Amino acid sequence: MKRVFSGVQPTGNIHLGNYLGALKQFVELQNDHECIYCIVDEHAITVPQDPKELRKHILDVAALYIAIGIDPKKSIIFVQSQVSGHAELGWVLCCNSYTGELSRMTQFKAKSGGKESVGTGLLTYPVLMAADILLYDTDVVPVGNDQKQHIELTRDIAIRVNNKYGKTFVVPDGRFMKAGARIMALDDPETKMSKSAENIHSRISLLDEDSKIKKSIMRATTDSDGEIRFDPVNKPGVSNLLNIYSALTGKSVDEILAGQNWRGYGDLKKELVAVTQEALAPIKQNYEEIRESEELIRILKDGAERANAIAEPVMKRVRDKFGLGL
Ligand code: TYM
Repeated sequence: MKRVFSGVQPTGNIHLGNYLGALKQFVELQNDHECIYCIVDEHAITVPQDPKELRKHILDVAALYIAIGIDPKKSIIFVQSQVSGHAELGWVLCCNSYTGELSRMTQFKAKSGGKESVGTGLLTYPVLMAADILLYDTDVVPVGNDQKQHIELTRDIAIRVNNKYGKTFVVPDGRFMKAGARIMALDDPETKMSKSAENIHSRISLLDEDSKIKKSIMRATTDSDGEIRFDPVNKPGVSNLLNIYSALTGKSVDEILAGQNWRGYGDLKKELVAVTQEALAPIKQNYEEIRESEELIRILKDGAERANAIAEPVMKRVRDKFGLGL
């Protein structure tokens, strides 16, 4: 069985973009892959976090993982900082990457742009991500499109180390959804949906109330020509709504358009509201049950043990190849 690894930052507001680009794949893959799903708290502290909030968000994401359908009996669910190999391998990989390639990453440029002083962790963020992936001899990494460049860097570092020290790492492949790989902000379809945007109506969070879902979709930015057609370049707003519809229902955009008699954007939006509310209702219900259960901590502790059992032999291989320790 091929091994899958992916992670989500515990920074609140897990939204439809996260779900349709990444999390939905996590669930699909667990039946015929060995899956490891991480809550990457060490990545979260590359920007300042309130410690109490961070702890809370770790459990929020863990509960959401289970609420969307990740089965802790089939898949490993754990918190990054509970397995010390991530930070250890991260350092080894820092010594095998270049500031030039890291400063060219578009996410680094976006997060550091215009700032007088930039934290080192923001620059080395993708190296820690490479460590997450390579620590488990991962074959497949399900992520959204915005992580493509980081996966390429991971592959480059793995190949570089393998060439220099002999076969050390498995070289992984990214896995991207057709419809959900890049969900755009509802208020500004030229930018991606994000956790941190100020306008709460730019995104739909997985735990949003039905009334909030309705408000955000009904006020989504479209255009003035009134024609419902999939054309991301000229009609990014309408195309984003169709894309979300497609990703939520599993129907292609052609199928969706063939079966409709919508008279305008209002009809499309109303139906998307219903589809979204229906898709998120069971997730919200499961979440409420799991979030407060004591089972959650037990699942994460068990997950960390199982993850560590896979990581430790890989770390030993790395120490041997590099001549670290005794
Ligand atoms: P994070 O927490 O920012 O995002 C989690 C996942 O959601 C995807 N995503 C999107 N997909 C489609 N449309 C969007 N608008 C959208 N916004 C976010 C992201 O691509 C991601 O898959 N660096 C990672 C976390 C990470 C990781 C890893 C992932 C750390 N180590 C190892 C895979 C393997 C991130 O930014 O996640």
